[in-house]
Amino acid sequence: MDAMPAIPEDFLIGAATAAYQIEGGVDEDGRGPSIWDVFCREPGRIHGGDTGDVAADHYHRYADDVREMQALGLDAYRFSIAWPRLYPNGDSRLNERGLDFYQRLAESLLDAGIRPFATLFHWDLPAALQERGGWANRDTALRFADYAHTVFRRLGSLIPHFITLNEPGTYTLMGHVLGEHAPGLQSLETAVAVSHHLLLGHGFAVQAFRAENLPGAQIGLTNVLSPVRPKTGAAADRAAAARVDAVSNRWFLEPVLHRRYPDLLREAGVDRVVQPGDFAIVSQPIDFLGVNYYRSTIASASPSDPLLGASMEEPGQTRTAMGWGVDPDGLHQLLLDLHAEAPNLPVYITENGAAYPDVLTGRDVHDANRVAFLREHLEAALAARAAGADVRGWFVWSLLDNFEWAFGYSKRFGVLYVDYPTQARIWKDSARWLQSVCQRRRTEG
Ligand code: FCB
Repeated sequence: MDAMPAIPEDFLIGAATAAYQIEGGVDEDGRGPSIWDVFCREPGRIHGGDTGDVAADHYHRYADDVREMQALGLDAYRFSIAWPRLYPNGDSRLNERGLDFYQRLAESLLDAGIRPFATLFHWDLPAALQERGGWANRDTALRFADYAHTVFRRLGSLIPHFITLNEPGTYTLMGHVLGEHAPGLQSLETAVAVSHHLLLGHGFAVQAFRAENLPGAQIGLTNVLSPVRPKTGAAADRAAAARVDAVSNRWFLEPVLHRRYPDLLREAGVDRVVQPGDFAIVSQPIDFLGVNYYRSTIASASPSDPLLGASMEEPGQTRTAMGWGVDPDGLHQLLLDLHAEAPNLPVYITENGAAYPDVLTGRDVHDANRVAFLREHLEAALAARAAGADVRGWFVWSLLDNFEWAFGYSKRFGVLYVDYPTQARIWKDSARWLQSVCQRRRTEG
């Protein structure tokens, strides 16, 4: 703590969640099924057969959760809006009760002095749209724009920051190449179409946002970024690192920032789905870039690897419960590199955190490993800011333990421990640490 630099006044401290991971209430108030409801019911997809049916019951407990955030002293909260609550059938019929929930949530946050950041797509596509091809169908980008437009029109005066998509890269790859996430497909050709239509949907949504002319409101896109270094200076390793970088980072950044796809994607056939004028839509100016950071990558040439001819390792002295290497320097470097690439684009770290095997003893969870992780990464972000990177905030993933996709409830990322049988929220040591950061910043400010 002592070593931590002062937190600038305009640097927000927040926490993040996503609808399917915390809400539960999947059949309530007219919500339609999402692709995750469907995927969770397929045998063998999710660890322990877990589902998001109840999750952290946030749909019913949101007011208490906002009180917890207020007690933590958070400046901001990033949540996602479940598209299937608003458009249960994936068509143009709006479910007002779905909209009401997010209105109540946003109002409670504002009453508590917490700034809402809303993500419009954190992977829970209405199942009805998947039946029509999902994001592989260009029409889904238009459906997304309509949904986004409704949100801007109806909630835009309450929500100052919108994020169109969360990690389109993870959605594309995990859901359509590796088949480990919904919708569980394994087709590179489909994935390439999905990726382009996601970015197109993002661009259409930004256009809809600008058309609403919301005073003071901002919009951006969140990518997960992982700096990639070659294992050695050998040409083959450097080429392998460039391929990994193209897939992990450049694929979803270059079209937005520079109106082009990396060569590797063009080789994979992306031009087949790009129509004239698309890049102008995809590269609509954004107000900020959201960056999710968890780990960095070291790549080396591995000719036997069928997909990229590369093998990957993660640097870091220690590992999280996900097996991810802990590398705060990677975040520092990433922020400086982004600043060099796009000097006028403010950045929010929209997710950063770690799973550890938390043990509840009485009313305590002593998660010293998570405290160290969070502190080191926040320090890295602040150091990058001091070195000139325009970093405007940092959101811990996550506020609450939650449904960690294919890992079900087996991985805990929260600063608040969720005792699932009772749904009690219990402050981990990391929550107390976060509170002390927020408090210190207030007294300094
Ligand atoms: C990110 C996701 C988020 C969560 C964290 C651990 O990739 O955006 O929903 O699962 O990883």
